[in-house]
Amino acid sequence: MALPTPRHIAIIMDGNGRWAEARGLRRVKGHEAGSETVRVIAEECSRLGVEQLTLYAFSEENWRRPRLEIEFLMRLLKRFIVNERDTLMRNNLRFSAIGRLHRLPEGVRRELTRTMELTSRNTGTNLCLALSYGGRAELVDAMRELAAKVQAGKLKPEQIDEAMVSAHLYQPEMPEPDLVIRTAGEMRLSNFLLWQVSYAELFVSDALWPEFRAEHLHEALASYARRERRFGGLVDRLEPKTAG
Ligand code: FPP
Repeated sequence: MALPTPRHIAIIMDGNGRWAEARGLRRVKGHEAGSETVRVIAEECSRLGVEQLTLYAFSEENWRRPRLEIEFLMRLLKRFIVNERDTLMRNNLRFSAIGRLHRLPEGVRRELTRTMELTSRNTGTNLCLALSYGGRAELVDAMRELAAKVQAGKLKPEQIDEAMVSAHLYQPEMPEPDLVIRTAGEMRLSNFLLWQVSYAELFVSDALWPEFRAEHLHEALASYARRERRFGGLVDRLEPKTAG
């Protein structure tokens, strides 16, 4: 039986720079085109009834990029969060963000908060941007909170279990991703949602993020529907009958 549409799709958006360079454009033009794709894919996920779409928009490691590229990305991000409010409302999308958000420029944080508040009552897809995000950093932050509770005498180390670690992640209520898509052909997880993707299915698309469209998403979903998820267990299967 085919798997149903994933509840949570997480995407590593890669290939903006390559897309621009292949066209003789500056790398930042690739990011600009990539922000268009964000809107297209968010709208499609909303149409398909996906519960959560998490996009890796800026990693902790991305702070090491050239200053001008970072400044451009922050301006683009701010513009996106402001300009796409209509799209979010029209599509009943809820907007959220995960990561070390305190590292973002003040203006970006202000607009993030406004957009989250504006869309907080929407009941459709949760569009979550991972910003200044790292999977290891998220686990470090969770461990610090747990250690502080132990130090304050509110928690015993032996009470810490998997559910408690999950409850201390940036967005504890998120369903774990069922499907992780990476664009531009790279076969890496790059520190994305390390705890949450333990049992996720992976799909790598050769399309570069600025050219990724609904049909590429459908290709990933068709591949996902054919998978057999076992979560470490066994799936009941009818053995093929052999003659004689
Ligand atoms: C990877 O491309 C992508 C990023 C570093 C950031 C993703 C950013 C966007 C899609 C645009 C802005 C997003 C929003 C939400 C407005 P790359 O530069 O690593 O590409 P390359 O590997 O081809 O150089």
